[in-house]
Amino acid sequence: MEKIELPEEYPRKEWKIMQGVHMTQACVDNWENVDVFQVRSDDLFIASYPKSGTTWISEIVDMILNNGDVEKCKRDSIHNRVVMLELAGIKTMLPGTELLSKMPSPRLIKTHLPIQLLPKSFWENNCKIVYVARNAKDVAVSSYYFYSANKLHPHPGTMQEYLENFKAGRVSFGSWYDHVKGWWEKRMDLPILYLFYEDMKEDLRREILKVVGFLEKHLDNDVLEKIVRHASFDVMKDNPMTNYSLIPSILLDQSISPFMRKGVSGDWKNYFTVEQNNKFDEDYRKKMSGTTLCFRTEI
Ligand code: A3P
Repeated sequence: MEKIELPEEYPRKEWKIMQGVHMTQACVDNWENVDVFQVRSDDLFIASYPKSGTTWISEIVDMILNNGDVEKCKRDSIHNRVVMLELAGIKTMLPGTELLSKMPSPRLIKTHLPIQLLPKSFWENNCKIVYVARNAKDVAVSSYYFYSANKLHPHPGTMQEYLENFKAGRVSFGSWYDHVKGWWEKRMDLPILYLFYEDMKEDLRREILKVVGFLEKHLDNDVLEKIVRHASFDVMKDNPMTNYSLIPSILLDQSISPFMRKGVSGDWKNYFTVEQNNKFDEDYRKKMSGTTLCFRTEI
């Protein structure tokens, strides 16, 4: 993929390493405020490794909290309804910490941080977290296309180069392997609902009901069916409040790759060569040995 020359404002800045984790500069610029950010006990965190279905689950949670009222969920773009804690460094947007500090409770907070980098006050508040995870191969492909379009990130290079960096954790928010395992290990100690993208693809209604139970809500059946329809890939792809079309193309160039790209499980098969797949599997076995966490790479 060809590299694109950018105006000064949104260059593809180099990585910053935060406690051993690769981060884009936009997520490190405001670190002193992220670190001391005041979590409230009624905050709801939506946490994930990038490209795992964060926007999907965010829309679902907002729909549940608004009892399936589509118009209410169109009050603003998803990145303003579920604000990303660590995001800063964009001239036209206030840092996540600042937006959130002005927001009334109960707040919905998005984060891609590995669990050990969460603000100190997170550990004192026992707030609920919905974590969504997706299999590594589909995340690798989805993130490759996303970073090709997103100017906050260093250019991903070729797919081959990117896969090597992905396996080594030289990608945004560091190692996928450490991220999914880190949050999985803490699910016994913290109120975490750990969901899988593949389960959502398999039976969205069932997974929405898990979220409803976790949030201690009750939904009538017709409301539930409305949420299932509203959260379908085709509806979210056409919805300007969820498809990121309100983000300036100078920052996210969706002519390179749309944010709502394909929304399927197993797309990696269209991109991995046999050799890349074998090497990926070999490395995966080593990195994921000793965990009870299991993923499906197709459904
Ligand atoms: P693809 O690039 O594989 O299409 P995130 O929100 O964490 O950045 O994740 C983005 C990925 O979730 C993209 O994957 C996107 O298409 C997919 N996605 C978003 N909404 C979806 C939906 N309603 N159904 C299925 N996949 C969805």
